[in-house]
Amino acid sequence: MTTVHWNPYLSIGHDGIDAEHQDLVKVLNDLITRIEDGAELGEVRDGLGRLIEETERHFRHEEAVMEREAYPEAEHHCHLHQALSTEIRAFDAELAGGKEMGPEITDFIRDWLIHHILKSDMRLGGYLEGRESGWRLRNRPAGRKPRWRNRCP
Ligand SMILES: [Fe+2]
Repeated sequence: MTTVHWNPYLSIGHDGIDAEHQDLVKVLNDLITRIEDGAELGEVRDGLGRLIEETERHFRHEEAVMEREAYPEAEHHCHLHQALSTEIRAFDAELAGGKEMGPEITDFIRDWLIHHILKSDMRLGGYLEGRESGWRLRNRPAGRKPRWRNRCP
């Protein structure tokens, strides 16, 4: 099992999203280390629970950015997020049911995360770069609303 080393090529060019991706990598690496060190089931579940929480919070933020910026691929991107949430919650349920945790779960999440950042999030980064507002999200005047909405299902 290998931990993930953050590399600039994983940057999508959006400060907030990049910072959250780096935080996710840290939480994932912590879970990998717990498993490698033979941690108790409770500690592994704590690590996985934190990863689920951080991942889902990050997804909500990314989805809010997509909605605000009227990203045309938002619906598909949201489905990808939902699929991962479902998978990792299923892993957690299996753990709770007494199933042994092997490296396959962290391998799966690590591979999913890297692939998702490089493929889907990078496309989002490119879209935001092409829209001036994507680079002014933090400076958007309070109360200013987008002209149309592209809601996640
Ligand atoms: Fe994403």
